[in-house]
Amino acid sequence: MEKRLQQNVSLKEFNTFGIDVQAKYFSRFSNQDELEESLAQNKSSTFILGGGSNILLTRNFDGLILKNEIKGIDIIKEDEHHLYVRAGAGENWHQFVQYCIQRNLAGVENLSLIPGSVGASPMQNIGAYGVEVKEVFDELEAYHLKEKKVYTFSVNDCEFGYRESIFKKKLKDQLVILSVTYRLNKVPAFNTSYGAVEQELEKMGVTNLSIQAISQAVINIRSSKLPDPAEIGNAGSFFKNPQISKSKFVELRSKHPELVAFENSDGTMKLAAGWMIEQCGWKGYRKGDAGCHAKQALVLVNYGNASGKEIYTLSEEITKSVKKKFGVELEREVNVV
Ligand code: FAD
Ligand code: EPU
Repeated sequence: MEKRLQQNVSLKEFNTFGIDVQAKYFSRFSNQDELEESLAQNKSSTFILGGGSNILLTRNFDGLILKNEIKGIDIIKEDEHHLYVRAGAGENWHQFVQYCIQRNLAGVENLSLIPGSVGASPMQNIGAYGVEVKEVFDELEAYHLKEKKVYTFSVNDCEFGYRESIFKKKLKDQLVILSVTYRLNKVPAFNTSYGAVEQELEKMGVTNLSIQAISQAVINIRSSKLPDPAEIGNAGSFFKNPQISKSKFVELRSKHPELVAFENSDGTMKLAAGWMIEQCGWKGYRKGDAGCHAKQALVLVNYGNASGKEIYTLSEEITKSVKKKFGVELEREVNVV
């Protein structure tokens, strides 16, 4: 059997924070057979890597990093209102979005320009500008590392929540997602509920709404405030927006009348963590090469040579100060490795 594992590989180019740590073993796989071959040659712990855009590496990894490169996008079935598209987990998410937009397949236009892979999209139920991936999710296939079997998960099996799924909780580190099938709409149901999207469409002078126009509006908004990882290392929002009850919100707002929050469909409130972090004075803060982005305080950044530990320490300081000022606990969105 060909030797599939590389040794002592720098992970700097494999994570968008640009953290320079090493993996003891590293291997790429483009299908299930290659995955199984790599696993057969390995006796240490494993970590499944997509685009590395939602991880913070804080130490050398003393095991095997398995980089998912399973490709392929196929329309597999059709019904009256939908086309079902299956994509390999190693496909780039935004390229998948563009594939859909070019074919007038609606449902993922609000999720344009999110970095990372198709396979990671169900991990935290990626979301942006009023849409979450669960709304177009049909099913996925995943390889169980211990049982060495492939399982199919329907939407109900995935326990999707806000930036959550069963894959981040009960089944954490047990599965390798191989492919995801999405259910795209033949006739679009435009979602411009997010204020910034409506404003951008107006600025663009759009009179005939289309999925192409929404995608472009989202791209414009994102490019104006989120740092491009090719220029400044980051992993998007470092924390989740905390969710609290309406009564707790009313109490908090009596102390902080400017508090920015949005109502969830179940009546609970989602607080804008970026606003709270800004109020604590962190926006634009920099210590060494670790910092808090000047245009979006929810995004922590690496200006070059920060270590994962330095970013982590900064995140702890931010959490403490938000707790002290607002009595609210921030939860990390980024996966710390
Ligand atoms: P990775 O970082 O490689 O992995 C993330 C986690 O998923 C890890 O725990 C990993 O082990 C696991 N994983 C990855 N692939 C597989 C697989 N095939 N099988 C099993 N486990 C797997 N996210 C949003 O939701 N909305 C946003 O608007 C958004 N904006 C962002 C903007 C920027 C600039 C950046 C850098 C990030 C942003 N993110 C956003 C976060 C990130 O893009 C998403 O979480 C994305 O889905 C991560 O994909 P990835 O392939 O890079 O995952
Ligand atoms: N805000 C501030 N100061 C800041 C940042 C934000 O006051 O420094 C305020 C804004 O003015 C706005 C509110 O907070 O009123 C919300 O800000 P924004 O629209 O930028 O969105 P967000 O809540 O900070 C979330 C997601 C993003 C997603 C956007 C758009 C989370 C954790 N983050 O950010 O997702 O792209 O909404 O839907 O839910 C990610 O998950 O990595 C990510 C980037």
